[in-house]
Amino acid sequence: MSLPALPRIVINMAISADGKIASANRKVNHFSSPADEENLYRLRSTADAIMNGARTVDSAPVLMDAGPLRFRRSRVKQGLAEHPLRIVITGTGSLDTNAEIFKHDFSPIVIVTSRRCPKKRLKQLQQAADKVIVCDEREVNLKNALRSVNRCWPVKRVLCEGGGELNDALFRADLVGDIRLTVCPTVVGGRDAPAISGGLGLQRLSDARRFELVDRKCVGDELFLHYRRMRLHQRHA
Ligand SMILES: NC(=O)c1ccc[n+]([C@@H]2O[C@H](COP(=O)([O-])OP(=O)(O)OC[C@H]3O[C@@H](n4cnc5c(N)ncnc54)[C@H](OP(=O)(O)O)[C@@H]3O)[C@@H](O)[C@H]2O)c1
Repeated sequence: MSLPALPRIVINMAISADGKIASANRKVNHFSSPADEENLYRLRSTADAIMNGARTVDSAPVLMDAGPLRFRRSRVKQGLAEHPLRIVITGTGSLDTNAEIFKHDFSPIVIVTSRRCPKKRLKQLQQAADKVIVCDEREVNLKNALRSVNRCWPVKRVLCEGGGELNDALFRADLVGDIRLTVCPTVVGGRDAPAISGGLGLQRLSDARRFELVDRKCVGDELFLHYRRMRLHQRHA
């Protein structure tokens, strides 16, 4: 029996001019303009699901919604649900079940955790979410996770909005098709401040994922970049 197809993953992040996505204490995590917010909702309006890491959901009032009515209408016109499915990854189950996201019931919330999640936590997560999927022993294998999600909700396009640790796992699994970046005219600094891709990273340049720049646009002082994963024949050229 063949495995279900994997969705296309698009990563969308706002970064400071020094490449950070938040401050080291995670308190500074929003520094982009209304133009970037518009861009975010436009991208969300094309996705079946939005995916975040536990720390992103815990460190700000994240809803993962479709935004204003015009974006919700556009989704419905394209045959998508009014709001995207919401997927949160939490290997140890550290995700706070009092987080803002759980107070807004406009679309299903799927939590993916691992066997490291204690039984008591698992029960709490099951009470808070629409579905909890337990994948793998330690790190959640995101291919397994997305295939499991697909069994209940067919998702063709997933917008991942960070943070850096989840992005790193996606890059290592070579799951990322597109990177959308908004470079903002702010410097955040901090040795321990997260960047687009944190976590374990790679050991050799030859393992680095290669992308090509397919679009760039300047709006005010912000730069909107679109990178696409190179096709196999381009990577070895
Ligand atoms: N500027 C932007 O566009 C932007 C966008 C998104 C987020 N942010 C900011 O970035 C910061 C968060 O980024 P972050 O890198 O610290 O954390 P993160 O990636 O949001 O979350 C990390 C957590 O997610 C879980 N996780 C991720 N990948 C996993 C995997 N493969 N297997 C198991 N668990 C996995 C783990 O949860 P457990 O600990 O439960 O195991 C891990 O501790 C926040 O301050 C947020 O506001 C900024």
